[in-house]
Amino acid sequence: MALWSSRFEEAPVDAVREFTESISFDKRLYKHDVAGSIAHSAMLAEVGIITRDDAAEIAVALREIEKEIESGEFPFSAELEDIHMHIENALIAKIGDTGARLHTGRSRNDQVALDIRLYMKSAAAEITGSLRALQASLIDLADRNSDVLMPGFTHLQHAQPVLFAHHILAYVEMFDRDASRLADCVSRFNASPLGSGALAGSTLPLDRAKTAELLGFDGTTSNSMDAVADRDFICEFISDIAIFAMHVSRLSEDVILWVSSEFGFAELSDAYCTGSSLMPQKKNPDVAELARGKSARIYGDLTAILTLCKGLPMTYNRDLQEDKVPLFDAIDTALDVLSVFPGMMATMTIHRERMREAVSDPALMATDVAEALVKDGMPFRNAHHRVGALVKWCAENAKKLNELTLEEMRETIPEARYEYMKLFSPDKSVAAREIRGATGPGEVRARLDEWKRKLS
Ligand code: ARG
Repeated sequence: MALWSSRFEEAPVDAVREFTESISFDKRLYKHDVAGSIAHSAMLAEVGIITRDDAAEIAVALREIEKEIESGEFPFSAELEDIHMHIENALIAKIGDTGARLHTGRSRNDQVALDIRLYMKSAAAEITGSLRALQASLIDLADRNSDVLMPGFTHLQHAQPVLFAHHILAYVEMFDRDASRLADCVSRFNASPLGSGALAGSTLPLDRAKTAELLGFDGTTSNSMDAVADRDFICEFISDIAIFAMHVSRLSEDVILWVSSEFGFAELSDAYCTGSSLMPQKKNPDVAELARGKSARIYGDLTAILTLCKGLPMTYNRDLQEDKVPLFDAIDTALDVLSVFPGMMATMTIHRERMREAVSDPALMATDVAEALVKDGMPFRNAHHRVGALVKWCAENAKKLNELTLEEMRETIPEARYEYMKLFSPDKSVAAREIRGATGPGEVRARLDEWKRKLS
């Protein structure tokens, strides 16, 4: 293979070639590299730097190269460093000097900044699509179990009765913000860096707006040095993925608790579990555990990209080649999780009787008693105190709240009325919570219908 710069008299030794190559991981940018090059050559023709015939010939040859890569025929070699050099080299091999005109007014620095942006736009669309599928599976699960009650937890202690659907819809909200964070991130990097050259722009009359338009960007970057040097958009993108991973990890943890014999709230389909190599009775929630575990990798990716960027002097430094490693890993890992999670949630069986049993402890309705006192005029702090004393009285007298007579209740709450004795029903407790965003059946139904409309 010919030396690619006449500046050098010696080719790099094999170890250096292997150390500096990125083709092993950046080949996945090929489609975007081809698209960027076709737009670039069309622009070069438009401003008269190359002929229209040259641009047409370049486009045809680039499409051929794209097909060769797709079919697996294309020869990749570490000697050609990266995807940009592979494609340019193949182009020149096909059409000679015409191909040699493509790189006019362009550096691999603005080229790679372009390719990653294009790649990330399509990755954002793919992740968002999968997030929508996950939301749909959760909405369906919530809808099929819309009358199921369960204890809501704080500090992993029974707190108050909630609808199971309300618990699940909490995650639908979280995943919605994850999708909107990605869209927001894209809106910030949706500008074409092409024309920034190595760092200083170009002496050639490049029409930057033209390439931006051809490639579907909102506009062009405003500073050539910023455009080739910064990777804040990758940091932001991976943090958005990391937040999603955190959410999915929490949902995994809930599922893992629910399917434990201690909770017994749910059961996963066999198709989403694995057994133990030793204990024949085991049915393990490995998919949820791995989804929880994979968040660690993504946090590693976030740490990697932040650390990679923090010490770099302006502008481009070769360190930046490493940006793709955590970027691709975070995207792949998120998509991996999303490829199994919706199916796992959709096929989960809910044990409503177990949940009902757990939610029937009258202590979960203690807040309702305090709020009844408030409605009767007592300041909340005093009401809270009275009900605390009532709960203590029950513990001391080995009685449950719903077993008390009115007289017994009046030992600690003289203001108690007969109606208070009917407060110890989880159904009533939930039904009484119909303010916006609360767990009341009317509210939850409204949210479910809203989500179904949004996602359809
Ligand atoms: N493979 C390189 C990267 O990913 C492309 C840019 C190389 N630029 C350079 N001046 N060596 O960053």
